[in-house]
Amino acid sequence: MPNGHANEERHHPAASRVYRTDAIEVTWDPRYCAHVGACFNGSLEAFDPRRRPWVVADAEPPERIAEIVSQCPSGALHMRWLDGRPSPEPPEEPVAVMPQADGPLYVRGRLLILDRQGRIVRSDTRMALCRCGHSSNKPFCDDSHYEVGFESHDPEFD
Ligand code: SF4
Ligand code: FES
Repeated sequence: MPNGHANEERHHPAASRVYRTDAIEVTWDPRYCAHVGACFNGSLEAFDPRRRPWVVADAEPPERIAEIVSQCPSGALHMRWLDGRPSPEPPEEPVAVMPQADGPLYVRGRLLILDRQGRIVRSDTRMALCRCGHSSNKPFCDDSHYEVGFESHDPEFD
């Protein structure tokens, strides 16, 4: 099922997905964006889906950008320091799975998604995995749960 955000201009294949300042490089991979909004809720000045470019990485101090990027649950956003400082997100262990009310499973840790032949399809430290069954980008959440009105009915996590 197509989701309403996939038609946004920022998802166009030609859209720029690398955003640099003198200090940092922010990357955004639209294939994994679950449209949760941790980015623009963190700073609309830096992350505004209605603006082009939608990421303005020097709109906040680089430390604040690093903090916001680390909150992106799907791993669509990453950043690196251009002065060689280590990655702001060392792999977390053990792996943590956090079911979201009426939404995906947020997973954090050293994560690998393997295909049927055991080849690595994706390696990351943050992922949002579909549990509604309606994502057009399985196993990743693409916000289709919202479109179909998925209800998790799980009192322990809702
Ligand atoms: S998944 Fe990441 S990039 Fe996509 S809206 Fe959420 S915080 Fe922003
Ligand atoms: S849980 Fe988000 S698309 Fe299925």
